[in-house]
Amino acid sequence: MPDGRDKRKPQTRAGPRHVAIIMDGNGRWAQARGRPRLFGHHAGARRVREIVTACPDLGVKYLTIFAFSTENWRRTQTEVAGLMNLFRRYIVKEMQEFVKNDVRVRFIGDRVRLDAKLRALMDETEAVTAHCSGTNLTVAVNYGGRDEVARATRRLAQDVAAGRLKPENVDEETLPRYLDTCVLPDPDLVIRTSGEARISNFLLWQSAYAEYEFIDTLWPDFTSEIFTDLIQGYGTRERRYGAVPA
Ligand code: FPP
Repeated sequence: MPDGRDKRKPQTRAGPRHVAIIMDGNGRWAQARGRPRLFGHHAGARRVREIVTACPDLGVKYLTIFAFSTENWRRTQTEVAGLMNLFRRYIVKEMQEFVKNDVRVRFIGDRVRLDAKLRALMDETEAVTAHCSGTNLTVAVNYGGRDEVARATRRLAQDVAAGRLKPENVDEETLPRYLDTCVLPDPDLVIRTSGEARISNFLLWQSAYAEYEFIDTLWPDFTSEIFTDLIQGYGTRERRYGAVPA
């Protein structure tokens, strides 16, 4: 074998470069302990740091996490305010840690509805970590896949109307350039915790060929060991993108 590999052995391929996570189950985790839902969100925030820290050793270069969806505004005012407060405090607390760990942070989603203080912190985090070249952490806040595609289409239509883009030149490569994720590769693996097998409007366009892992663990119980197992399991799966195996 020219490259020294034995083809009779099952071949494992490289692990996922981009992992996206729907962090679900904070509320149930708290309720099971007789505590308010925000207690679960705080526990969930602590897991975020553990999972981000695990990425370099696992070869995960891009991690995208779903922190708040366009539908989450329907929660009680107490929970929404508590989550926004948690995001602000989390950013302030973690900003220097991100720089120290070479983590480049980006935010996706529609920022217009977010309060000015949070928006300013998001801008500052992106600027302060812009030079970091280790893990790329993308946090989805007020994010919805359909909303993202609608906003992208609006901008694309504006370019057509202004004569900057010809309708006949619009193809599969065009729309992604207008998405919030335009600088990111598509996710290879999407994980959802808490036993729900839904994608809930997360990265709809980008996940067309992603692998999915739906696991029962609630997000506050999602350890780096569980994360490692899922990443290693991915290496044994075959992705065919619609083709017949060679
Ligand atoms: C879903 O659990 C979780 C959320 C809507 C919020 C996710 C937020 C965090 C993990 C905390 C902080 C994140 C960052 C980036 C600091 P759920 O409330 O829907 O749980 P349930 O399905 O059990 O009710």
